[in-house]
Amino acid sequence: MSDFVRIHEVGPRDGLQNEPGVIPVADKVALIDLLGTSGLRDIEVGSFVSPKWVPQMADTDRVLADLTPVEGVSYAVLVPNMRGWDGFVAARVPGVIYEVAVFISASEGFSQSNLNCSIAESVERLAPVVRAAVAAGVGVRGYISCVTDCPFEGPVAPDAVARAAEMVLAVAPMQLSLGDTIGKGTPERVVTMLEAVSQVAPVTQLAGHFHDTGGQALANIDASLEMGLRAFDSAVGGLGGCPYAPGAPGNVATEAVLDLVHGLGFQTGVDVDVIAKAAKMARGMR
Ligand code: HMG
Ligand code: MG
Repeated sequence: MSDFVRIHEVGPRDGLQNEPGVIPVADKVALIDLLGTSGLRDIEVGSFVSPKWVPQMADTDRVLADLTPVEGVSYAVLVPNMRGWDGFVAARVPGVIYEVAVFISASEGFSQSNLNCSIAESVERLAPVVRAAVAAGVGVRGYISCVTDCPFEGPVAPDAVARAAEMVLAVAPMQLSLGDTIGKGTPERVVTMLEAVSQVAPVTQLAGHFHDTGGQALANIDASLEMGLRAFDSAVGGLGGCPYAPGAPGNVATEAVLDLVHGLGFQTGVDVDVIAKAAKMARGMR
């Protein structure tokens, strides 16, 4: 098993998408550029989604134009449909490494709320995005939300998560990030879910995306490490939430995840002092 843990920083997207106030592009870019100097290899910087639903991400094109790309860093954006893909293509800067993230839900209720369609329809929408990205040589990642609980339907069956994973992977192979969107999962339930998903994808292809509502995110990461996962999403300063998941607070904080995994002897290549500065900057944006 690898002793390297890859941290996917989602603060500038999952964190800031939930902030009610207007955050100037320059502030977002300052945060992203600082994070870019930390050794992180994956930074999620925005979304090409409906500005009506997520106004905070409406300036993602300007963020891409203004950020200072760091060699070796991949800048990720959420792309829900071909309209989002066109927005990304118009905004991307030549020579920069990007990843597009497509997203579906393991529960129908959250799918309707977050994507305005059924799970099956959401797979139909993401398929052309994935094909366009693969054809353009852009990396692709898939999110599955509500992997333990749905804000509308309660507990989600592990098999439903495995089925959702199977549907996405039938489109193309990619890393799947498993989202405990409302932070209700416990280590025991996370392990049961991972056992089901590992029937359709190797654990090395899975990432954990834990919101920290129940204060269980670090315990869930610990349990996921035991299961063999080596990729986790986190938000600097614990920023975050999801506007369509009532009660979802911040993502687990990057600095806390680094403390945990470094303490367990894993390498990340991330400089904790730079992350501490970025966490302070992020908290100042709230
Ligand atoms: P739709 O099916 O077209 O339906 O979009 P709609 O009624 O929701 O569309 C609203 C308006 O947005 C329409 O314009 C569309 O044309 C337009 P209007 O007719 O009202 O003038 N539109 C777009 N505009 C810009 N870019 C686009 C785009 N697509 C449609 N790409 C859609 C469905 C899902 C695209 C829309 O509902 C949407 O963008 N929703 C927001 C989804 C979102 O960003 N959610 C938060 C991120 S997911 C998350 O946080 C979970 C995660 O962190 C993992 C976890 O924690 O579980 C990833
Ligand atoms: Mg999230």
